[in-house]
Amino acid sequence: LPIGVLVSGSGSNLQAIIDSIDRGRLNADIKAVISNVPDAYALTRARNHSLPTFVIPHEKFQKREAFDEEVVHILNESGVELVVMAGFMRIITAVLLDAYPGRIVNIHPALLPSFRGMHAQRQAVDYGVKFSGCTVHIVDSGVDSGPIIIQAVVPVLESDTEETLSARILQEEHRIYPQAIQFFASERIHLKNRKVIISEGL
Ligand code: GRF
Repeated sequence: LPIGVLVSGSGSNLQAIIDSIDRGRLNADIKAVISNVPDAYALTRARNHSLPTFVIPHEKFQKREAFDEEVVHILNESGVELVVMAGFMRIITAVLLDAYPGRIVNIHPALLPSFRGMHAQRQAVDYGVKFSGCTVHIVDSGVDSGPIIIQAVVPVLESDTEETLSARILQEEHRIYPQAIQFFASERIHLKNRKVIISEGL
């Protein structure tokens, strides 16, 4: 499965995907790593693995749509079939959504629909929930609102800070994201009135 990975930051989810492919656990091929942040460490991880990298500084574009058009152009040129947002901190527009309907996924560090938006881990700590976790979902026109593919749960301890909870959730992110992408690679993902059905493996 040819994938494109959109990044903005450290790229630990990108690294987990790279490692899963190397270990033969994910039948995918990273055709492009695209960052809106020129010095994102995710680009270093990609280059260490000789992956094609592209930097599209969002400041260059007056409109979000123009930024997305550039992203779509690179994804098309690279033969990407699934777009993986991994720590990508941009809101995407219909330009990108319409180019890859039902083929854009994202990971959010909370159990959606709880704690949408930024600093989800901090929201969970502040709220005082006993469990939180992460969610891999199909991206739709809302923010953190598309059909859910996989979730993982972690305990929230009284001693937890945003940092300690984030670290615990990140471990689960690195486990479920490659798994979710593998479901696409093995064509086990089906949508039935906005709910994701994962069919039996071969
Ligand atoms: C992760 O918590 C992810 O859930 C969020 O961005 C954070 C950093 O991701 N979307 P990464 O290390 O850049 O993959």
